[in-house]
Amino acid sequence: MHIGHIPLANRLFVAPMAGVTDRPFRQLCKALGAGYAVSEMVTSRKDLWNSLKTSRRANHEGEPGPIAVQIAGTDAAMMAEAALYNVDRGAQIIDINMGCPAKKVCNKWAGSALMQNEPLAIEIAQAVVDACAPRNVPVTLKMRTGWSQDHRNAVALARVFESVGIQMLTVHGRTREQGYRGHAEYDTIAAVKAAVRVPVVANGDITSPEKAKAVLAATGADAVMIGRAAQGRPWIFREIAHYLATGEHLAPPLVAEVRRLLLDHLQDHYRLYGESTGLRSARKHIAWYLRALPGGEAFRQHINTIEDCSEQWHAVARYLDAIAQQMDRLPPVAYPADADPSEEQEGLAA
Ligand SMILES: Cc1cc2nc3c(=O)[nH]c(=O)nc-3n(C[C@H](O)[C@H](O)[C@H](O)COP(=O)(O)O)c2cc1C
Repeated sequence: MHIGHIPLANRLFVAPMAGVTDRPFRQLCKALGAGYAVSEMVTSRKDLWNSLKTSRRANHEGEPGPIAVQIAGTDAAMMAEAALYNVDRGAQIIDINMGCPAKKVCNKWAGSALMQNEPLAIEIAQAVVDACAPRNVPVTLKMRTGWSQDHRNAVALARVFESVGIQMLTVHGRTREQGYRGHAEYDTIAAVKAAVRVPVVANGDITSPEKAKAVLAATGADAVMIGRAAQGRPWIFREIAHYLATGEHLAPPLVAEVRRLLLDHLQDHYRLYGESTGLRSARKHIAWYLRALPGGEAFRQHINTIEDCSEQWHAVARYLDAIAQQMDRLPPVAYPADADPSEEQEGLAA
């Protein structure tokens, strides 16, 4: 599979998740079988480009290519400028966010709210494509199935986006109105796939190898994108790849491997965020990794009381050493994809 002229390793993608899919996590997912990862969204507001948050989001040090950066905003000229700013900092692909439902984004008509203002959505797509074309940088776009139940305009928009030069479309199978409620539906994604020639990526509620296979079959999509089910489970990509190739399940990872992956992830995380922020933002990752393990909830509460990175890291190491005495491999777990992360996202949107 290709995005424009850029080849991809496979058709299993990590979804952009603000506050989650930072460079350390993307690297980990890629190492464990994801063929492609898009950065968390970067604002088109110039006054925020020098903020610590935006500069961390623009960090691609050591990340294997292709480097893809998602931009969010409401003004076509600013979005074009933001695209070039990120190209100058290493982006090889630019993705436009028309999928995020967070109020902080949507009140300003960005994210999925743009789907309600089709002329503006198209103007933005055109401006970003025009800015990136001389640099030979493909532009992709992520959207929802529509604005509301009665306004599912993804198919009509997909046709126009393709005609202005968008080179890949990702569709999350929910409307903006739904937020993260209800279930993703795949009929609209199948209709988008049937309507355009550029690659289409199916997204929403893919939580297992079986579901990935079923969604690929139901939609005819070129790839699947996985968000929440990869939280604390970056090896889901190799599990899906194995299942798609063989029809069989890979054994859950060894506790010893999870220990190594999580401890390395934490070191990388502390390096990117520094002691104070890193300590806090690592807590959710630790909780996700360990949620299915014996005593995981009690350990999560304990972790939240620790105020020092080194202590946090050693506590995780000790906990997993104890787990390794009890079992070789992680138990198989069901990953709910029905949590509503909108509120968390609102705090993360800028
Ligand atoms: C915490 C969180 C942050 C997100 N941030 C973004 C974002 O920055 N850009 C975006 O296009 N989508 C964002 N999303 C939406 C995901 O990319 C994805 O479309 C959605 O979670 C559905 O996929 P899933 O069911 O596999 O999680 C976010 C989702 C979550 C849970």
